Amino acid sequence: MEFGIRTLDEAELAGKTVLCRVDINQPVDRASESLRSINRIRACVPTVRELSDRGARVVLLAHQGSDIEYQNYYTTRPHRAVLEQLLERPVQWIDDVCGPAAREKIRGLKDGEILLLDNVRFLAEEQTLFEMKLRLTHEQQAKTLLVEKLAPLADLYVCDAFAAAHRDQPSLCGFEQVLPSYMGRLFQKEYCTVSRLMEMPDRPCLFVLGGAKVSDAFGMLPVVLSKGIADRVVTGGLVGNIFLAALGRDIGSGSRSFLERSNNSQYLEAAKALYERYGDKILLPRDLAWVEDGCRKEAHLGEIPGDITSTDIGSATAEAYRREILRAKTVFVNGPMGVFEQESSAAGTKTVWQALADTEGFTVLGGGDSITATESYGLTQRMGYLCTGGGALIRFLSGEELPVVRALRHGADVTKQ
Ligand code: 3PG
Repeated sequence: MEFGIRTLDEAELAGKTVLCRVDINQPVDRASESLRSINRIRACVPTVRELSDRGARVVLLAHQGSDIEYQNYYTTRPHRAVLEQLLERPVQWIDDVCGPAAREKIRGLKDGEILLLDNVRFLAEEQTLFEMKLRLTHEQQAKTLLVEKLAPLADLYVCDAFAAAHRDQPSLCGFEQVLPSYMGRLFQKEYCTVSRLMEMPDRPCLFVLGGAKVSDAFGMLPVVLSKGIADRVVTGGLVGNIFLAALGRDIGSGSRSFLERSNNSQYLEAAKALYERYGDKILLPRDLAWVEDGCRKEAHLGEIPGDITSTDIGSATAEAYRREILRAKTVFVNGPMGVFEQESSAAGTKTVWQALADTEGFTVLGGGDSITATESYGLTQRMGYLCTGGGALIRFLSGEELPVVRALRHGADVTKQ
């Protein structure tokens, strides 16, 4: 037991049917039906392998993409082959989640066999919009179709999806009501590492916030700033642009209309209020970069051409952020500084990431894109800790008890009926 949650060391697994929730949510290339990155799949392999090696009949539940913006919202079919390759053993797959076909397949599993179900978010009750609208309690989640159909077929539940631990959805929080529950090895490593680090971070503690998923960032910022957890915050990507736009700085009409189209202009008010209160702690981009005719261009604020869409922080900003990072003793990072996948927009992220590798401070990086950037620069071994969770890490850092942690604590006392 760690932090009130059972670990796999305490589980009897041989011959047992185990529902194992993983987070293998990855960017998808629909045209070739392949995954653009496999780091989250790789991260959950030790747990899946251990369950199978110890003779469990393993049923993997996973989501792919988000129903909020329908980006990467896709079947889990491409993940099967990757899992199979990494595990070096067969992985079965079915295009069903909890219907008769899936249930029959689960009943037919033999000891050690592994079955991956389709995207759980194909069920309405697993969707994030549904979660936000209905706010089901964990007791209510135990009465959803998914839990009612699958729990009777299983002996225990394992959650290895720390990256989704901030979500309050039945595949994550419902099974713990009715099945003895455990955290998987990845969940254990991620949760315990960040918990211990947060107990007393070395100062100064810097937050580096970028990327495109901004809702969690704006949920966390007021907390980490008001509680004094963050001594300084540096901003890039959409987060930086939202602050600049909120303060009336010109970021180009393309950047502005992107904020509107992506439904992010709703954060302008919050950004303005935060900056008014904590402006001395929040560093904003002083220059931006964009791509014109295939070439990188940069300009300082005030000199940005009217119609551009920025895709990176500029080099003066990157240099200022580099110095902040080298001074910090603890650095939490969520999200790249721009569209780092494109060479002409990668410089800001590259400079910041090199500083993260060079700093003597302890670095914790969260989220799929942060990990992809780290791997693509060959810096994995030089970072303090790479966490598969982006939103989950952010929510954890805001001091909230994560819904999945609460559910797993409950599930530690549940016995199979
Ligand atoms: C993530 O990508 O942060 C996790 O997989 C959770 O996905 P979500 O933000 O769509 O719930």
